[in-house]
Amino acid sequence: KLPALKEVYKDHFVIGAALNQNQVDNPNSKAMELVKQQFNSITPENLLKWESVHPEPDSFNFQPADQYTQFGENQGMFTVGHTLVWHNQTPDWVFTDQEGEELNRSDLLKRMENHISAVAGKYSGKIDGWDVVNEAFEDDGTFRETEWYKIIGEDYIEQAFQFAHKADSNAQLYYNDYNLWKPEKRDAVIALVKDLQSKGIKIDGVGMQSHLGLEDPSVEQVEASIEAFSTLGIDVMITELDINVTRTLIDKDIEFEGALPDSLQQQLASRYADLFNLFDKHKDKISRVTFWGVNDGQSWLNYRDDSNRRNYPLLFDRENEPKSAFYSVIEVVNEE
Ligand code: G3I
Repeated sequence: KLPALKEVYKDHFVIGAALNQNQVDNPNSKAMELVKQQFNSITPENLLKWESVHPEPDSFNFQPADQYTQFGENQGMFTVGHTLVWHNQTPDWVFTDQEGEELNRSDLLKRMENHISAVAGKYSGKIDGWDVVNEAFEDDGTFRETEWYKIIGEDYIEQAFQFAHKADSNAQLYYNDYNLWKPEKRDAVIALVKDLQSKGIKIDGVGMQSHLGLEDPSVEQVEASIEAFSTLGIDVMITELDINVTRTLIDKDIEFEGALPDSLQQQLASRYADLFNLFDKHKDKISRVTFWGVNDGQSWLNYRDDSNRRNYPLLFDRENEPKSAFYSVIEVVNEE
Protein backbone atom coordinates (compact mmCIF):
# COMPACT_ATOMS: atom_id res chain seq x y z
CA LYS A 1 0.00 0.00 0.00
CA LEU A 2 1.13 3.47 -0.88
CA PRO A 3 2.32 5.56 2.07
CA ALA A 4 0.26 8.73 2.55
CA LEU A 5 1.85 12.17 2.50
CA LYS A 6 -0.62 13.45 5.09
CA GLU A 7 0.33 10.61 7.48
CA VAL A 8 4.06 10.87 6.98
CA TYR A 9 3.94 14.66 7.50
CA LYS A 10 1.27 14.72 10.20
CA ASP A 11 3.61 16.13 12.85
CA HIS A 12 4.98 18.71 10.43
CA PHE A 13 2.26 20.58 8.51
CA VAL A 14 -0.88 19.85 6.55
CA ILE A 15 -0.39 18.79 2.95
CA GLY A 16 -2.72 20.19 0.33
CA ALA A 17 -3.62 20.03 -3.32
CA ALA A 18 -5.40 22.51 -5.57
CA LEU A 19 -8.61 21.07 -7.07
CA ASN A 20 -10.07 22.03 -10.42
CA GLN A 21 -13.72 22.06 -11.42
CA ASN A 22 -13.54 18.69 -13.12
CA GLN A 23 -12.18 17.06 -9.99
CA VAL A 24 -14.79 18.65 -7.77
CA ASP A 25 -17.48 17.42 -10.19
CA ASN A 26 -16.18 13.85 -9.99
CA PRO A 27 -15.48 13.10 -6.33
CA ASN A 28 -15.08 9.38 -7.03
CA SER A 29 -12.55 9.68 -9.86
CA LYS A 30 -9.12 8.14 -9.53
CA ALA A 31 -7.57 11.57 -8.98
CA MET A 32 -10.00 12.33 -6.18
CA GLU A 33 -9.41 8.95 -4.54
CA LEU A 34 -5.78 9.97 -4.47
CA VAL A 35 -6.72 13.30 -2.90
CA LYS A 36 -8.68 11.53 -0.14
CA GLN A 37 -5.83 9.15 0.50
CA GLN A 38 -2.86 11.54 0.33
CA PHE A 39 -3.93 15.06 1.34
CA ASN A 40 -5.58 16.77 4.30
CA SER A 41 -6.06 20.23 2.81
CA ILE A 42 -7.56 21.57 -0.42
CA THR A 43 -7.46 24.85 -2.33
CA PRO A 44 -9.80 25.70 -5.24
CA GLU A 45 -7.73 26.31 -8.37
CA ASN A 46 -10.27 28.63 -10.01
CA LEU A 47 -13.82 28.21 -8.74
CA LEU A 48 -13.73 30.82 -5.98
CA LYS A 49 -12.08 33.52 -8.06
CA TRP A 50 -14.22 36.58 -8.69
CA GLU A 51 -15.10 35.78 -12.34
CA SER A 52 -16.25 32.28 -11.36
CA VAL A 53 -18.19 32.96 -8.19
CA HIS A 54 -19.47 36.46 -8.99
CA PRO A 55 -19.65 36.77 -12.78
CA GLU A 56 -22.28 39.53 -12.95
CA PRO A 57 -23.01 42.43 -10.56
CA ASP A 58 -26.05 40.77 -9.03
CA SER A 59 -25.41 37.13 -9.72
CA PHE A 60 -23.34 34.67 -7.80
CA ASN A 61 -22.44 31.18 -8.91
CA PHE A 62 -22.08 29.35 -5.61
CA GLN A 63 -22.78 25.82 -6.75
CA PRO A 64 -19.16 24.81 -7.55
CA ALA A 65 -17.93 26.29 -4.27
CA ASP A 66 -20.74 24.51 -2.40
CA GLN A 67 -19.53 21.20 -3.82
CA TYR A 68 -15.94 22.09 -3.05
CA THR A 69 -16.56 23.03 0.58
CA GLN A 70 -18.85 20.00 1.02
CA PHE A 71 -16.04 17.72 -0.13
CA GLY A 72 -13.67 19.41 2.32
CA GLU A 73 -16.16 19.00 5.13
CA ASN A 74 -16.89 15.35 4.32
CA GLN A 75 -13.18 14.56 4.30
CA GLY A 76 -12.35 16.68 7.35
CA MET A 77 -9.83 18.69 5.37
CA PHE A 78 -8.35 22.11 6.05
CA THR A 79 -10.27 23.99 3.38
CA VAL A 80 -8.74 27.09 1.81
CA GLY A 81 -10.46 29.92 -0.06
CA HIS A 82 -8.62 31.41 -3.05
CA THR A 83 -8.87 34.35 -3.64
CA LEU A 84 -10.90 37.43 -2.67
CA VAL A 85 -8.98 40.33 -4.23
CA TRP A 86 -6.78 39.86 -7.29
CA HIS A 87 -6.21 41.62 -10.61
CA ASN A 88 -6.60 38.46 -12.69
CA GLN A 89 -9.82 36.57 -13.33
CA THR A 90 -11.80 39.58 -12.15
CA PRO A 91 -14.52 40.78 -14.54
CA ASP A 92 -14.16 44.24 -16.12
CA TRP A 93 -17.53 45.35 -14.73
CA VAL A 94 -16.04 45.37 -11.24
CA PHE A 95 -14.07 48.50 -12.10
CA THR A 96 -16.62 50.39 -14.22
CA ASP A 97 -19.95 52.14 -13.69
CA GLN A 98 -23.11 51.78 -15.79
CA GLU A 99 -21.81 54.23 -18.38
CA GLY A 100 -18.62 52.25 -18.72
CA GLU A 101 -16.58 54.92 -16.91
CA GLU A 102 -13.98 54.03 -14.34
CA LEU A 103 -15.52 53.64 -10.89
CA ASN A 104 -14.54 56.04 -8.11
CA ARG A 105 -12.75 54.99 -4.95
CA SER A 106 -15.70 54.85 -2.62
CA ASP A 107 -17.88 52.87 -5.03
CA LEU A 108 -15.09 50.39 -5.71
CA LEU A 109 -14.58 49.94 -1.97
CA LYS A 110 -18.31 49.26 -1.62
CA ARG A 111 -18.11 46.70 -4.40
CA MET A 112 -15.13 45.05 -2.74
CA GLU A 113 -16.92 44.90 0.60
CA ASN A 114 -20.07 43.56 -0.98
CA HIS A 115 -18.14 40.77 -2.73
CA ILE A 116 -16.12 39.82 0.33
CA SER A 117 -19.09 39.86 2.67
CA ALA A 118 -21.18 37.76 0.25
CA VAL A 119 -18.49 35.17 -0.48
CA ALA A 120 -16.50 34.95 2.75
CA GLY A 121 -19.74 35.40 4.71
CA LYS A 122 -21.45 32.53 2.93
CA TYR A 123 -18.60 30.12 3.62
CA SER A 124 -18.03 31.18 7.19
CA GLY A 125 -17.38 28.00 9.15
CA LYS A 126 -16.67 26.06 5.94
CA ILE A 127 -13.54 27.83 4.66
CA ASP A 128 -10.74 27.69 7.22
CA GLY A 129 -8.44 30.27 5.67
CA TRP A 130 -8.65 32.83 2.87
CA ASP A 131 -6.09 34.18 0.46
CA VAL A 132 -7.49 37.67 0.99
CA VAL A 133 -5.19 39.53 -1.39
CA ASN A 134 -3.18 37.86 -4.13
CA GLU A 135 -0.13 39.20 -5.99
CA ALA A 136 -0.19 42.88 -5.02
CA PHE A 137 3.54 43.44 -5.62
CA GLU A 138 5.92 43.39 -8.54
CA ASP A 139 9.15 41.43 -8.25
CA ASP A 140 11.08 44.65 -7.50
CA GLY A 141 8.89 45.29 -4.46
CA THR A 142 6.83 48.14 -5.91
CA PHE A 143 3.07 47.97 -5.86
CA ARG A 144 1.57 46.25 -8.89
CA GLU A 145 -0.46 48.91 -10.69
CA THR A 146 -3.74 47.03 -10.75
CA GLU A 147 -7.16 48.63 -10.99
CA TRP A 148 -7.46 48.08 -7.25
CA TYR A 149 -4.30 50.06 -6.63
CA LYS A 150 -4.97 52.78 -9.18
CA ILE A 151 -8.53 53.49 -8.09
CA ILE A 152 -8.37 52.90 -4.34
CA GLY A 153 -4.68 53.38 -3.53
CA GLU A 154 -2.29 51.40 -1.34
CA ASP A 155 -4.83 50.94 1.40
CA TYR A 156 -6.98 48.61 -0.73
CA ILE A 157 -5.05 45.79 0.91
CA GLU A 158 -5.84 46.74 4.48
CA GLN A 159 -9.44 47.42 3.50
CA ALA A 160 -9.72 43.92 2.03
CA PHE A 161 -8.35 42.34 5.21
CA GLN A 162 -10.78 44.33 7.34
CA PHE A 163 -13.76 43.37 5.16
CA ALA A 164 -12.69 39.72 5.30
CA HIS A 165 -12.43 39.78 9.08
CA LYS A 166 -15.85 41.39 9.29
CA ALA A 167 -17.34 38.74 6.97
CA ASP A 168 -15.81 35.79 8.82
CA SER A 169 -14.17 36.52 12.14
CA ASN A 170 -12.98 32.91 12.53
CA ALA A 171 -11.25 32.37 9.20
CA GLN A 172 -7.50 32.73 8.95
CA LEU A 173 -6.49 35.56 6.65
CA TYR A 174 -3.50 35.38 4.32
CA TYR A 175 -1.48 37.42 1.88
CA ASN A 176 -0.39 35.23 -1.09
CA ASP A 177 2.19 35.92 -3.81
CA TYR A 178 4.83 34.33 -6.09
CA ASN A 179 8.59 34.84 -6.22
CA LEU A 180 8.66 35.70 -2.53
CA TRP A 181 12.19 34.31 -2.39
CA LYS A 182 13.27 37.52 -4.18
CA PRO A 183 14.63 39.90 -1.50
CA GLU A 184 12.93 43.07 -2.81
CA LYS A 185 9.56 41.41 -3.02
CA ARG A 186 9.99 39.71 0.34
CA ASP A 187 10.83 43.05 1.96
CA ALA A 188 7.71 44.66 0.49
CA VAL A 189 5.55 41.91 1.97
CA ILE A 190 7.31 42.17 5.33
CA ALA A 191 6.59 45.90 5.34
CA LEU A 192 2.94 45.19 4.51
CA VAL A 193 2.56 42.66 7.32
CA LYS A 194 4.19 45.01 9.84
CA ASP A 195 1.95 47.83 8.70
CA LEU A 196 -1.20 45.71 9.14
CA GLN A 197 0.01 44.50 12.52
CA SER A 198 0.76 48.04 13.69
CA LYS A 199 -2.81 49.02 12.82
CA GLY A 200 -4.26 46.03 14.64
CA ILE A 201 -5.54 44.47 11.42
CA LYS A 202 -5.69 40.69 11.51
CA ILE A 203 -3.28 38.80 9.22
CA ASP A 204 -2.45 35.19 10.04
CA GLY A 205 -0.04 34.14 7.38
CA VAL A 206 1.89 34.64 4.19
CA GLY A 207 1.53 32.18 1.32
CA MET A 208 4.66 31.62 -0.76
CA GLN A 209 3.22 30.32 -4.02
CA SER A 210 6.36 28.42 -5.08
CA HIS A 211 6.00 27.89 -8.81
CA LEU A 212 9.64 26.85 -9.05
CA GLY A 213 12.16 25.60 -11.57
CA LEU A 214 14.26 22.44 -11.52
CA GLU A 215 17.31 24.46 -10.50
CA ASP A 216 16.14 27.92 -9.49
CA PRO A 217 15.67 29.45 -7.02
CA SER A 218 18.18 27.87 -4.66
CA VAL A 219 17.08 26.24 -1.44
CA GLU A 220 18.99 28.95 0.43
CA GLN A 221 16.98 31.68 -1.28
CA VAL A 222 13.70 30.03 -0.32
CA GLU A 223 14.97 29.47 3.21
CA ALA A 224 15.84 33.13 3.74
CA SER A 225 12.23 34.10 3.08
CA ILE A 226 10.74 31.36 5.26
CA GLU A 227 12.92 32.59 8.12
CA ALA A 228 12.19 36.27 7.50
CA PHE A 229 8.41 35.81 7.39
CA SER A 230 8.34 33.66 10.47
CA THR A 231 10.00 36.35 12.59
CA LEU A 232 6.80 38.37 12.11
CA GLY A 233 4.93 35.87 14.26
CA ILE A 234 2.71 34.65 11.43
CA ASP A 235 2.32 31.30 9.68
CA VAL A 236 4.38 30.64 6.59
CA MET A 237 2.70 28.50 3.96
CA ILE A 238 3.99 27.00 0.73
CA THR A 239 0.79 27.46 -1.23
CA GLU A 240 1.19 26.66 -4.92
CA LEU A 241 4.07 24.25 -5.22
CA ASP A 242 5.04 22.83 -8.60
CA ILE A 243 8.27 22.46 -10.56
CA ASN A 244 8.31 23.53 -14.17
CA VAL A 245 10.39 20.75 -15.70
CA THR A 246 9.60 21.57 -19.32
CA ARG A 247 10.73 25.19 -18.98
CA THR A 248 14.17 24.03 -17.87
CA LEU A 249 14.38 21.51 -20.70
CA ILE A 250 13.51 24.12 -23.29
CA ASP A 251 15.96 26.62 -21.84
CA LYS A 252 18.67 23.97 -22.12
CA ASP A 253 17.65 22.71 -25.56
CA ILE A 254 16.97 19.23 -24.22
CA GLU A 255 14.60 17.40 -26.57
CA PHE A 256 12.68 14.23 -25.85
CA GLU A 257 9.45 12.52 -26.88
CA GLY A 258 6.85 10.91 -24.66
CA ALA A 259 7.53 10.13 -21.01
CA LEU A 260 10.15 12.02 -19.06
CA PRO A 261 13.54 10.18 -19.25
CA ASP A 262 14.79 8.53 -16.06
CA SER A 263 17.63 10.96 -15.55
CA LEU A 264 15.17 13.86 -15.50
CA GLN A 265 12.79 11.96 -13.21
CA GLN A 266 15.74 11.61 -10.86
CA GLN A 267 16.58 15.28 -11.10
CA LEU A 268 12.98 16.17 -10.25
CA ALA A 269 13.01 13.71 -7.34
CA SER A 270 16.16 15.20 -5.88
CA ARG A 271 14.83 18.75 -6.34
CA TYR A 272 11.70 17.78 -4.39
CA ALA A 273 13.84 16.05 -1.76
CA ASP A 274 15.93 19.21 -1.31
CA LEU A 275 12.81 21.34 -0.91
CA PHE A 276 11.13 19.00 1.56
CA ASN A 277 14.33 18.69 3.55
CA LEU A 278 14.13 22.46 3.87
CA PHE A 279 10.44 22.39 4.84
CA ASP A 280 11.20 19.62 7.33
CA LYS A 281 13.97 21.72 8.88
CA HIS A 282 11.49 24.60 9.30
CA LYS A 283 8.43 22.59 10.27
CA ASP A 284 7.97 24.80 13.34
CA LYS A 285 7.43 27.78 11.01
CA ILE A 286 5.45 26.19 8.19
CA SER A 287 1.78 25.35 8.69
CA ARG A 288 0.88 24.02 5.25
CA VAL A 289 2.44 22.83 1.99
CA THR A 290 0.00 22.80 -0.95
CA PHE A 291 0.72 21.44 -4.41
CA TRP A 292 -0.81 23.33 -7.34
CA GLY A 293 -2.68 20.33 -8.70
CA VAL A 294 -2.98 16.60 -8.11
CA ASN A 295 -1.36 14.93 -11.13
CA ASP A 296 0.79 16.04 -14.07
CA GLY A 297 -2.01 15.69 -16.59
CA GLN A 298 -4.22 18.24 -14.87
CA SER A 299 -1.57 20.83 -14.09
CA TRP A 300 -1.94 24.39 -15.40
CA LEU A 301 1.67 24.11 -16.65
CA ASN A 302 0.77 21.90 -19.63
CA TYR A 303 0.73 23.49 -23.10
CA ARG A 304 1.66 26.93 -21.85
CA ASP A 305 3.48 29.87 -23.38
CA ASP A 306 5.79 29.27 -26.29
CA SER A 307 6.45 25.70 -25.20
CA ASN A 308 3.01 24.30 -25.96
CA ARG A 309 4.26 21.05 -24.47
CA ARG A 310 3.39 18.66 -21.71
CA ASN A 311 4.80 19.29 -18.28
CA TYR A 312 5.80 17.07 -15.36
CA PRO A 313 5.57 19.33 -12.30
CA LEU A 314 3.91 17.21 -9.58
CA LEU A 315 4.35 14.01 -7.57
CA PHE A 316 1.81 11.90 -9.50
CA ASP A 317 1.88 11.09 -13.20
CA ARG A 318 -0.91 11.17 -15.79
CA GLU A 319 -2.23 7.80 -14.56
CA ASN A 320 -2.26 9.06 -10.97
CA GLU A 321 0.68 6.77 -10.21
CA PRO A 322 3.40 8.00 -7.83
CA LYS A 323 6.60 9.22 -9.49
CA SER A 324 10.05 8.81 -7.98
CA ALA A 325 9.59 12.38 -6.70
CA PHE A 326 6.74 11.11 -4.50
CA TYR A 327 9.00 8.53 -2.84
CA SER A 328 11.78 11.06 -2.37
CA VAL A 329 9.35 13.33 -0.48
CA ILE A 330 8.23 10.42 1.70
CA GLU A 331 11.82 9.41 2.42
CA VAL A 332 12.74 12.84 3.78
CA VAL A 333 10.78 12.00 6.93
CA ASN A 334 11.10 8.22 6.96
CA GLU A 335 14.88 8.40 6.95
CA GLU A 336 15.06 10.68 9.99
O1 G3I B 1 -13.11 27.79 -17.96
C1 G3I B 1 -12.69 28.28 -19.24
C2 G3I B 1 -13.35 27.50 -20.32
O2 G3I B 1 -14.73 27.70 -20.25
C3 G3I B 1 -12.78 27.98 -21.65
O3 G3I B 1 -13.31 27.24 -22.68
C4 G3I B 1 -11.25 27.84 -21.66
C5 G3I B 1 -10.63 28.34 -22.95
O4 G3I B 1 -9.42 29.01 -22.70
O5 G3I B 1 -10.74 28.58 -20.62
C6 G3I B 1 -11.20 28.16 -19.34
O6 G3I B 1 -10.67 29.01 -18.41
C7 G3I B 1 -9.31 28.81 -18.08
C8 G3I B 1 -9.24 28.55 -16.58
O7 G3I B 1 -7.91 28.49 -16.18
C9 G3I B 1 -9.94 27.25 -16.19
O8 G3I B 1 -9.29 26.17 -16.76
C10 G3I B 1 -8.54 30.07 -18.42
O9 G3I B 1 -8.50 30.22 -19.83
C11 G3I B 1 -7.15 30.01 -17.86
O10 G3I B 1 -6.51 31.27 -18.04
C12 G3I B 1 -7.20 29.71 -16.39
O11 G3I B 1 -5.88 29.59 -15.90
C13 G3I B 1 -5.73 29.65 -14.51
C14 G3I B 1 -4.81 30.80 -14.14
O12 G3I B 1 -4.62 30.82 -12.74
C15 G3I B 1 -5.39 32.12 -14.61
O13 G3I B 1 -4.83 33.20 -13.99
C16 G3I B 1 -5.12 28.36 -14.04
O14 G3I B 1 -6.06 27.29 -14.25
C17 G3I B 1 -4.77 28.43 -12.55
O15 G3I B 1 -4.02 27.32 -12.20
C18 G3I B 1 -3.94 29.66 -12.30
O16 G3I B 1 -3.68 29.74 -10.92
C19 G3I B 1 -2.86 30.83 -10.49
C20 G3I B 1 -3.26 31.16 -9.07
O17 G3I B 1 -4.64 31.40 -9.00
C21 G3I B 1 -2.49 32.35 -8.52
N1 G3I B 1 -1.07 32.14 -8.64
C22 G3I B 1 -0.60 31.76 -9.98
C23 G3I B 1 -1.36 30.53 -10.46
C24 G3I B 1 -0.80 30.05 -11.78
O18 G3I B 1 -0.99 31.02 -12.78
